[in-house]
Amino acid sequence: MDPKHCLVTGASSGIGKHIACEMVEKGWKVIAIARRADELNKLARLLGEDKLIPMVCDVSDFEQVKKTSTELINRKIIPSLFYLNAGNGDEEDENFDLDLHKKTFETNYFGAINWIDQWVPVLLKKEGGTFVGTSSLQSFVALPGSAAYGSSKAALNYTFESLDAMHYKNNIRFALIYPGPVDTPMLKTDKPIPSAWKPEKAAKYIVKKVLKGHMKIKFPPRWVLLLGIGKRLPRSFFRVK
Ligand SMILES: NC(=O)c1ccc[n+]([C@@H]2O[C@H](COP(=O)([O-])OP(=O)(O)OC[C@H]3O[C@@H](n4cnc5c(N)ncnc54)[C@H](OP(=O)(O)O)[C@@H]3O)[C@@H](O)[C@H]2O)c1
Repeated sequence: MDPKHCLVTGASSGIGKHIACEMVEKGWKVIAIARRADELNKLARLLGEDKLIPMVCDVSDFEQVKKTSTELINRKIIPSLFYLNAGNGDEEDENFDLDLHKKTFETNYFGAINWIDQWVPVLLKKEGGTFVGTSSLQSFVALPGSAAYGSSKAALNYTFESLDAMHYKNNIRFALIYPGPVDTPMLKTDKPIPSAWKPEKAAKYIVKKVLKGHMKIKFPPRWVLLLGIGKRLPRSFFRVK
């Protein structure tokens, strides 16, 4: 039997890199996507070049996603699982930054949707497949300094849930991961964040849940609880004094 293929975006670092390692460990062949070729090649050497295919692609650039997808199809590599994990997030201040909003949406929202555009028609002709979007617990509560990041993730939530309802009958699933703090370069902090998970732990948890068919995956538990409480608080609680 052919080995199963999965595609992981943002595989050069953090959560995505460890998802790639976990999936190889589980016997899958991984197509690893990111912009940094050196990091992807290092990972391929580590895990085995027959097990991980590095492909350089800027997910925010539709033409690059199209070219990469076409190359895979021409090589008869059809993933049945897509971890659409690439993302970025910059802290915002009082000066509204339209460019930052656009850049954040290009990566976090369109960087996932571009793949869906390319692969849903392919999966409709096959026996289906699963897209796993990496959202954030932050998408539940509008925090100051997170207007671009939080809204890009909230948009992803809506699109994935809507597409899931549409394509359930076609055996195409759209699952969502909602991480709280995970100790990766994205956190950009020198101080340890309490109860943050290591990316290895996050990836193990994600892969276990995804392979069991879970559709909403939230962690770490303490932050799920905290953000759950935050969601019920009045808007005035979050106002910057
Ligand atoms: N860490 C957290 O606390 C946390 C919490 C909630 C949600 N998340 C989400 O988890 C996901 C993974 O983040 P992380 O924490 O693992 O951060 P990370 O270590 O900084 O990894 C981000 C990954 O995304 C890739 N990437 C960024 N822009 C890209 C682009 N335009 N095209 C292709 N790849 C791109 C980066 O690769 P290249 O630079 O090589 O392209 C890198 O591999 C993100 O969606 C993030 O929003 C993280």
